Amino acid sequence: MSLASIRLRRAEPSDLAAILALERATENAPHWPPKAYADLLATPDAGSLTTEPATQRCMFVAETPAQSEVQSDFQLVGFAVGFILPADDVGELESVVVASSQRRAGVGRALCSAVFDWCRAQGATEVMLEVRSSSVAAIALYTSMGFTATGRRPRYYSEPEDDALLLRLPLTVKP
Ligand SMILES: CC(C)(COP(=O)(O)OP(=O)(O)OC[C@H]1O[C@@H](n2cnc3c(N)ncnc32)[C@H](O)[C@@H]1OP(=O)(O)O)[C@@H](O)C(=O)NCCC(=O)NCCS
Repeated sequence: MSLASIRLRRAEPSDLAAILALERATENAPHWPPKAYADLLATPDAGSLTTEPATQRCMFVAETPAQSEVQSDFQLVGFAVGFILPADDVGELESVVVASSQRRAGVGRALCSAVFDWCRAQGATEVMLEVRSSSVAAIALYTSMGFTATGRRPRYYSEPEDDALLLRLPLTVKP
């Protein structure tokens, strides 16, 4: 697969099953209840994964032409979720997942860039994220995009237990 064959677009309600299947198949992905994804897809830019009022989220998907006889068929190979509070200037990358068969081809970087552009458009000047300290690939991706570590939360994650690394990226530097 080449990056040129990848299509990036905003997620739609019809993507729910494919998103859930990819998330469930990916050990290091944050795991959210199906309803959280359904709500997010039903109300883009106003999804609610938490009880906070008036949060804004975006979700992007990456697709590649499917191995089928129908030329218009695409299969979902990745997704990413961004978050920002209204009037805040710090966005958050909440999740980025790429199918294991499609990794190291630039899909993760493209999905992150889409989220960062959306954060910029919402007024963010910075993006932060939390990542499992054992997520070697994700940390390498974030570092390659210019993120630097700003903190560590010991035993932040459970099942399996792990520390969270806190990373930040100024959006004035275009990744
Ligand atoms: C992290 C993840 C999204 C990366 O997706 P990807 O499409 O493979 O990433 P890219 O191809 O865009 O990688 C861009 C750069 O990141 C770095 N990188 C990515 N994966 C890496 C790995 N396994 N080892 C070392 N460096 C890596 C490299 O610098 C790479 O550039 P290069 O291929 O030119 O060397 C993917 O591995 C994944 O889905 N992991 C499981 C879920 C997860 O941990 N998500 C993050 C927490 S939400």
